[in-house]
Amino acid sequence: MTLTEKSGADLGQPRRDPVSIAGPYRARYHFSPERGWLNDPNGLVYYRGEFHLFYQFFPDGLYQGPMHWGHAVSEDLVNWTHLPVALYPDELGYIYSGSAVIDWNNTAGFGHEAMVAAFTHHHHESADEVQSIAYSLDRGRSWTKYPGNPVIPVREGYRDFRDPKVVWYDRDDGGGHWVMALAAGTSVLFYTSPNLVDWEPSGSFGAGYGSAVGVWETPDLFPLRDAAGERRWVLLVGVGAGAPAGGSGVQYFVGDFDGQTFTSANPIETILWLDYGGDNYATQSWSDVPDGRRVVISWMSNWLYGREIPATSTRGAMTLPRALELTPRPDGHRLIQRPVAELRQLRRRARSHDRTIIPADGTLTVESSGRLLEIDARIALRHATPDRVGIALRYDADHAVRVGYMPEQRSLFLDRSASGEVGFGEGFGVVHHAPLELDDGMLRLHVFVDHVSVELFANDGRVTISDLVFPPESALRVELFAEGGECVLESLDLYELEPATFLRTTR
Ligand code: FRU
Repeated sequence: MTLTEKSGADLGQPRRDPVSIAGPYRARYHFSPERGWLNDPNGLVYYRGEFHLFYQFFPDGLYQGPMHWGHAVSEDLVNWTHLPVALYPDELGYIYSGSAVIDWNNTAGFGHEAMVAAFTHHHHESADEVQSIAYSLDRGRSWTKYPGNPVIPVREGYRDFRDPKVVWYDRDDGGGHWVMALAAGTSVLFYTSPNLVDWEPSGSFGAGYGSAVGVWETPDLFPLRDAAGERRWVLLVGVGAGAPAGGSGVQYFVGDFDGQTFTSANPIETILWLDYGGDNYATQSWSDVPDGRRVVISWMSNWLYGREIPATSTRGAMTLPRALELTPRPDGHRLIQRPVAELRQLRRRARSHDRTIIPADGTLTVESSGRLLEIDARIALRHATPDRVGIALRYDADHAVRVGYMPEQRSLFLDRSASGEVGFGEGFGVVHHAPLELDDGMLRLHVFVDHVSVELFANDGRVTISDLVFPPESALRVELFAEGGECVLESLDLYELEPATFLRTTR
């Protein structure tokens, strides 16, 4: 065979086939699995031009069964290519959540630039939880579980002991070591290692800090700098219950990490929530992102009703990927979240509205079509005090998803009580609130609408509310409303979005 006759696959170009994302309950530009059940993002690492997304996956049913690590890659965080399952359950148990790193210095001795995954083996009969590792020498395409697993055995006194997040720590002496953050009960335990195989306990954080209503899960640990260059360490922690919207949610701590353990810069009772919606859980950040951004993604669901959400071929999706920033506030540094800039490639048609009045108790129809929308509205409230102001999305005579603000209460909200299908699960059809102080009376609502979700980024990402919604296909209108007093719409940009591209390949 001459070179020209060779197929693409022979030349190293694997075939990529389109994956259908049709169906009523399927996201169009959020990541969802090809089939089966999805929960937490796992193993987020950037390597040689690819963002790797592993995830909690049960391919054979629409429920959380024996967990695998599903796998997909993306060059731009928007369009994804599905790859074969990376890790299968084995005699040590199901493959629960964890992380991945590139072992740049071959500290483990697995080989040049090994991708190393750290995960929890959850035994399906004993419920024992131990920590294990696996490695890949071919860009995550094939995996070898470490024969000496587990690398951390059962720890007495902790029944919930899982979700290792591994990061590299650069020491002041020029050396460095690996750090593992592990959720254990209502605390985070830290371990250190020179080689990803031998781990020593090095400290713990918890003991009364933050919200401890639910069990702690899926920690993440990373440094961030504010615009002035000041550095703080951030610890993200999933809480299985008791989040502001009910059920599971993510809290975060801001403080310091000395290579061994974390200390909070805030009083013990301070609780900081990453998102105030019902559907943002198990947040994890990518390691080794080349431009230095701290990009996170979350499971867009909730353990309260996630098993019951309407589904046909797949159940579960991820949130939009977001870039985190750290900003100083009077009471300390806080996180802000912005949708990644790469999402702009989905904008297909733009419409802008100039300055106009939203009449008191009236509405202003925003011309739009389609169910995939991005809306960026600025509303001036300095001289006006309506009871509620905002945008009604997926609107018809009987339905709406309302996002907006109540100036008197200084409260941002997302109301999905009349959004469509709400009766399937406990606590779904409700209004979610978040505290928000306006600067200079200006409200900015930046909203992303997909078939089954609405994500609200208010005032440049100071507060976010992420919610699943299941509206009827025919509810399509977009209207601005101001109840109890007129106010000024300073500007509005509406973009119709196109679906992201989802492909499948075998390698
Ligand atoms: C969080 C979680 C993790 C666990 C995984 C199992 O959503 O409960 O603690 O590893 O899901 O699928």
